[in-house]
Amino acid sequence: MISKKIEKAFNDQINAELYSEYLYLAMSAYCETIDLPGFAAWMKQQAAEEHIHAMRFYDFVFDRDGRVELEAIAKPQAEYKSILDMFENVLKHEQHVTKLIHDLYALALKENDYAAQVELQWFIAEQVEEEKTAKDIIQQLKWVGDKSTALYMLDQKLAARPAPTTAEAE
Ligand code: FEO
Repeated sequence: MISKKIEKAFNDQINAELYSEYLYLAMSAYCETIDLPGFAAWMKQQAAEEHIHAMRFYDFVFDRDGRVELEAIAKPQAEYKSILDMFENVLKHEQHVTKLIHDLYALALKENDYAAQVELQWFIAEQVEEEKTAKDIIQQLKWVGDKSTALYMLDQKLAARPAPTTAEAE
């Protein structure tokens, strides 16, 4: 049985992951409007991955006999100064999510919830990847600068990102 505190905190995290999905879908739409279809496809896969994260928390709450209560999802930012500005916002957002996951882990320790700790360890490792990926793309965008041919090639490369599978998130 899940404690009320963990149940509430995990419900909040379901909302945070669904907001991440929504934010990245809005970023994908922004990429479409500035004619970077490869970046748009990459962000769409990123949004799909966030949906898997949300469902991991969702299933976990039910597996522990808890209740899921879905709240409203905030409106995401739709416009950015540039593709670099957009990815700097991705990194900032992932750093925020890392803090949320670390706070959840601290709560699971305080509540002596060992099952929640095991579940959250997957997310702690995932956040290392999420931040690294954003940093790598920011660096590549800085190298590219104003060179449109290089940006075109990076767009082609990002277009090849495969769809996430639920197996990857288990
Ligand atoms: Fe669900 Fe990008 O962290």
